[in-house]
Amino acid sequence: MKLPRLLLAALGLAFACQVGAQSKYPERPVTMIVPFAAGGPTDVVARIVGEHMSRTLGQQIVVENVAGAGGTTGITRGAQASADGYTIMMGHMGTHGAAPALYPGLKYDPAKDFEPIGLAAGTPILIVARKNHPATDLKSFIEWLKTNGDKVNMAHAGVGSVSHSTGVLFNSVVGVKPTFITYKGTGPALNDLMAGTVDFMTDQIVNVAPQVQGKTVKAFAIATATRSPALADVPTTKEGGLNGYEVSAWNAVFAPKGTPKEIVAKLTDALDKALDDEGTRKRLLDLGGVIPEKSGRGGAALQTLVVSEVARWTPVLKGSGDAK
Ligand code: MLT
Repeated sequence: MKLPRLLLAALGLAFACQVGAQSKYPERPVTMIVPFAAGGPTDVVARIVGEHMSRTLGQQIVVENVAGAGGTTGITRGAQASADGYTIMMGHMGTHGAAPALYPGLKYDPAKDFEPIGLAAGTPILIVARKNHPATDLKSFIEWLKTNGDKVNMAHAGVGSVSHSTGVLFNSVVGVKPTFITYKGTGPALNDLMAGTVDFMTDQIVNVAPQVQGKTVKAFAIATATRSPALADVPTTKEGGLNGYEVSAWNAVFAPKGTPKEIVAKLTDALDKALDDEGTRKRLLDLGGVIPEKSGRGGAALQTLVVSEVARWTPVLKGSGDAK
């Protein structure tokens, strides 16, 4: 019978074309979805690492900002994109750690619906306020928060975002309930903080470091065990007398589930080379970013991180009563 040979030949040709396409990948620009507004920490990290990844891949990585729902709108779009390597995304501790606790109808599973490419940068959290705030240190700021209750306006980038999750944790540790003001990213939130139209937020260092250095916002503390070299004058929360609030976020690259392994490997290699590049490292370090050690890079390490972060944040956020 001719059919099987014809069918086999067609299948063989299709397979050969697929293998050929993978070996030539990428043959056109790659879209990197950033699930928040331009100018915020996720966007900044994406553009810094994306620029060097473009050089390694030989094709432009084009950032597309798709904001909304604490980053889950953009990540949902990325998860549902063709698994051909031409759509990747920059997720983070919010979209791939906090979101499942806050979105019962979440259309993706952070641990199952992606091919993890690798961690891009750790981003310590700072407590930052408008520059004309009357408090002079973390202790007096917390007293002010307690005195002013829900008259205080606290910015975040949507339920489940890093600024929301770390803000909910801060409020529960301190015992306050400010009024939340939602933005499409902490880039726009920072503009209002600088304008003084919102009181404070907990945000990633790579977003606020230049403004803290330029004194256009006031940083009361950094929520890590040791100070950041990029902001050496900003005390830790512990130094400021606040125990139980040490938290860092992270940003990481993901591809849709089913992206061919050869393509995943090329993306992981490009990210790794970006994090080894002196110029790229300097840009991230100058903003207070934490560059993952070699052992913390790649898909397996990121997958382990995602699983542990979902497990960590679910009880914190489900119990907070601030889910919506
Ligand atoms: C951003 O890029 O705007 C932030 O990551 C938002 C957030 O998660 O707080």
